[in-house]
Amino acid sequence: MKKAIIIGATSGIGRELAKILSLNNYVVGMAGRRTELLSNLQREISGSYIKRIDVAESEEAITFLKELIQEMSGMDMIVISSGIGFINPELDWKQEKETIDVNISGFAAIANAAFKYFSNQGSGHIVGISSIAAIRGSGEAPAYNASKAFVSNYLEGLRQKASKSGIAITVTEIQPGFVNTAMAKGEGLFWVAPPEKAAHQIFKAITGKKKHAYITKRWRSIAWLLKVIPGWIYNKL
Ligand SMILES: NC(=O)c1ccc[n+]([C@@H]2O[C@H](COP(=O)([O-])OP(=O)(O)OC[C@H]3O[C@@H](n4cnc5c(N)ncnc54)[C@H](OP(=O)(O)O)[C@@H]3O)[C@@H](O)[C@H]2O)c1
Repeated sequence: MKKAIIIGATSGIGRELAKILSLNNYVVGMAGRRTELLSNLQREISGSYIKRIDVAESEEAITFLKELIQEMSGMDMIVISSGIGFINPELDWKQEKETIDVNISGFAAIANAAFKYFSNQGSGHIVGISSIAAIRGSGEAPAYNASKAFVSNYLEGLRQKASKSGIAITVTEIQPGFVNTAMAKGEGLFWVAPPEKAAHQIFKAITGKKKHAYITKRWRSIAWLLKVIPGWIYNKL
């Protein structure tokens, strides 16, 4: 059986994906900060492993990730779904910094440790949850959008590194639009996907070893629009 670790499995997309992976014969290791939710999920998913990991404490997070891998006697895939975001028009620094600590430092620490683990092993699969928000900056949530641009770019870097060094590491970047979880905040949300549907489409991207997937698929058209819209129009939206 393949072994998958999900960072940010306590709720939302990560939680649904944990259930789908388990139904598809993966041994699942689940991490996050909310231990009660982890314990509940472990009762639901037989043969699963849990670990409290706060990615904002990046050094400690790497140590705990290594412990979890050891407890599971290996890892074939990691899904980094942990993330936070704030609508922050006042540019409150505490919220900006928290976003950077979790979505940038925390993400990079886990992706970095996983890449090194898979390099030593000779194979592996890294799945990172970025966002459509990665495509353009946002005046309402500057740190969130910038942090997701970092995620997308970091994943591309790891993919290039794996390719150049000939190591069989697959890197999948997931770019969701809106998914109906605690993260989906703000006015005017549209095309909001149920987390179950999002997780199913992510699972398909995983099994297809895709480099990239929009979730849901129709967000490709919004992504295209965001890429082509000139700055002078974007700045008025
Ligand atoms: N929902 C959307 O519309 C949407 C759109 C685009 C991208 N995304 C991305 O999708 C990913 C999953 O979010 P979601 O929608 O499923 O929302 P969610 O239900 O709020 O899930 C976020 C997950 O991240 C974990 N997390 C947060 N801070 C953490 C920390 N310091 N250390 C470890 N884990 C941490 C949470 O666990 P704990 O709180 O237990 O630590 C939770 O399991 C995020 O990266 C988000 O940016 C979501």
